[in-house]
Amino acid sequence: MNDTDINSIVKKEIAIDNYLSETGPDVLREELIKGLTAEQKYISSKYFYDKKGSEIFEEITKLDDYYPTRTEKSILTNNAKSIVKDFRQTTIIELGSGDSSKISIILNSLSNMQLKSATYIPFDVSKTAIEKSISDLTEKFPELKIRGIAADFMNQLNLIPEVKHKVICFFGSTIGNLNPQDAFEFMKKIGDIMNAGDICLLGTDMVKDIKTLENAYNDNSNITAAFNKNILNVVNKHLKTDFNTDLFEHHAFYNTQKSRIEMYLKAKLNMQINSPSLTRKIRLNKNESIHTENSHKFTNENIFEFAQYAGLKIKTVFRDKNGWFSLIQFIK
Ligand code: AVJ
Repeated sequence: MNDTDINSIVKKEIAIDNYLSETGPDVLREELIKGLTAEQKYISSKYFYDKKGSEIFEEITKLDDYYPTRTEKSILTNNAKSIVKDFRQTTIIELGSGDSSKISIILNSLSNMQLKSATYIPFDVSKTAIEKSISDLTEKFPELKIRGIAADFMNQLNLIPEVKHKVICFFGSTIGNLNPQDAFEFMKKIGDIMNAGDICLLGTDMVKDIKTLENAYNDNSNITAAFNKNILNVVNKHLKTDFNTDLFEHHAFYNTQKSRIEMYLKAKLNMQINSPSLTRKIRLNKNESIHTENSHKFTNENIFEFAQYAGLKIKTVFRDKNGWFSLIQFIK
């Protein structure tokens, strides 16, 4: 028997609780149609992450121009010992977990004792991302207990188990995708499910010079453009529409007033979008744009406001040397 056979026999059954079907296809279709027939057309950025989209995003995270991922990882690496110091019988919940690279930094710095008593719960809308992460981590940390939750954490935070010693990780500045009011409400929900002894680790991308910000969303190899355009393929799958990605241009810029990167897909021509399942026609004029993402950038003051609104205390704020990214440790 060769190694592959042995691996397939001993491979644990992957434990994932799937709640994705609770938002049925009709709800998603309605939501998409509403956005595509609005005055300013939009597609929610959560639709970026089909299998292809998740793959392109992983490529983005490795680009020189895209500083957030590597900066946040460097903060995690430099401070891992201090972050995990008080972990005991910890349940680590990672919201929007994606690939396992960030949590691996934390898991690597746990002692054997800490690792044996820990449970890791990747919580993501992408079931394939969870599967991949579980199989990677099972190999690296055989004694770690893992249970995935496939759900939309924006609406289904109640799925976080009520256990002691929780560490809720929300990395990547994904919170920046929300509009400010929703971001505050989201942090409040997190504050509400936390008890004394629990920790929340929040990653936030900080306001900085415009050139650095805009380059991160207009990379030289056009990977971000491909990521942006792929959202139309996702829409095509849901709505059976015939969006042609070649007829759109990637457009990303920093809105100084709102402290956010805004991303759009701009139509190169007048066009009509067809689908057998649409009752209303979707039309786009030349140069009309579809909004696909906001990525808010934060200040120190914003971090204090989050804490205050959520009823949480800031234990530590970890930063890189340039102050480009922050990893905030909130406690109750
Ligand atoms: C994963 C939402 C944090 O806003 O920087 C990367 C997504 N979009 N390049 C971000 C993204 C374009 C990313 N977040």
